[in-house]
Amino acid sequence: MAAFCRTAALLLQHTKKSSCALIAARTYSSGGQFQHIIVDRKGEKQNVGFIQLNRPKALNALCDGLMTEMGQALDAFEEDKQIGAIVITGSEKAFAAGADIKEMQNRNFQECYAGNFLAHWNKVSLVRKPVIAAVNGFALGGGCELAMMCDIIYAGEKAQFAQPEILLGTIPGAGGTQRLTRAVGKSLAMELVLTGDRISAQEAKLAGLVSKVYPADQVVQEAIKCGEKIAGNSKLVCIMAKEAVNAAFELTLAEGNRMEKRLFHATFATDDRKEGMTAFVEKRKAAFTDK
Ligand code: HXC
Repeated sequence: MAAFCRTAALLLQHTKKSSCALIAARTYSSGGQFQHIIVDRKGEKQNVGFIQLNRPKALNALCDGLMTEMGQALDAFEEDKQIGAIVITGSEKAFAAGADIKEMQNRNFQECYAGNFLAHWNKVSLVRKPVIAAVNGFALGGGCELAMMCDIIYAGEKAQFAQPEILLGTIPGAGGTQRLTRAVGKSLAMELVLTGDRISAQEAKLAGLVSKVYPADQVVQEAIKCGEKIAGNSKLVCIMAKEAVNAAFELTLAEGNRMEKRLFHATFATDDRKEGMTAFVEKRKAAFTDK
């Protein structure tokens, strides 16, 4: 109950704007308090949304309830005009040890297929605002897939990444075979998916899976700092930039370049593009208004 009140209070701190009132209302109406995650705002300007997975006894195994709550928190941050970036993290021992095996153990094909099992996980990859994963400890199976749905991965020195589904007689089901292959190339992805072996944070950095490695006790703070840096830019233009980079995973080079050009042109319809260039010429810091 205390956690619920705190979350609601944090969201209500920002109820001056009507959209935020809606968020708070939704948080209340969407089933009460979060049981499996902690939701907060971080950064000097409180403009970084923060989601911490909070199932320590199960090493943050991603049960259905947790992923549903994650979707609700992400929706709230998407709608919140003050939030310019989101950080997702776990604990020092585990970012997430995978999808909840105990929850999956007795499922059959008919249930999985008819119910489109785990389809809602994809929500993380559909968020338009930039999302940073701050990974300490185990990022295994669905945990590694969750990190890869984020836009940037920062890792603690002792983080370990793997897709060990093969050891359970199954395969990755939330983008592991696709995103890992795009991130690290075929040979390493194939090796990880077929053996279930883990790689260290340092190996993950060398392979291009993570962008930075920090001491374990600094990674969350560094991710928040990165979020603040992003949130200090035009939030509108950040969404365009993210959309353009993500197009590289979906489109041919020619189509991607065409889309990038259209988005680049579109920035010239924004106040922020004008402000950014004017500020440069006037030798002052740009004051973006996200318009
Ligand atoms: C459910 C899990 C879990 C998981 C750990 N636990 N991982 N419960 N699902 N994925 C639980 C354990 O059952 C145990 O609870 C508690 O967390 C602590 O785990 P231990 O094994 O005792 O800890 P440790 O010895 O330190 O070993 C840590 C570990 C190991 C190496 C991470 O727990 C492990 O191998 N976990 C499974 C990793 C995995 O295979 N992940 C992929 C899942 S499949 P109790 O109550 O028993 O003590 C997947 C598919 C994704 O992710 C497909 C689409 C999303």
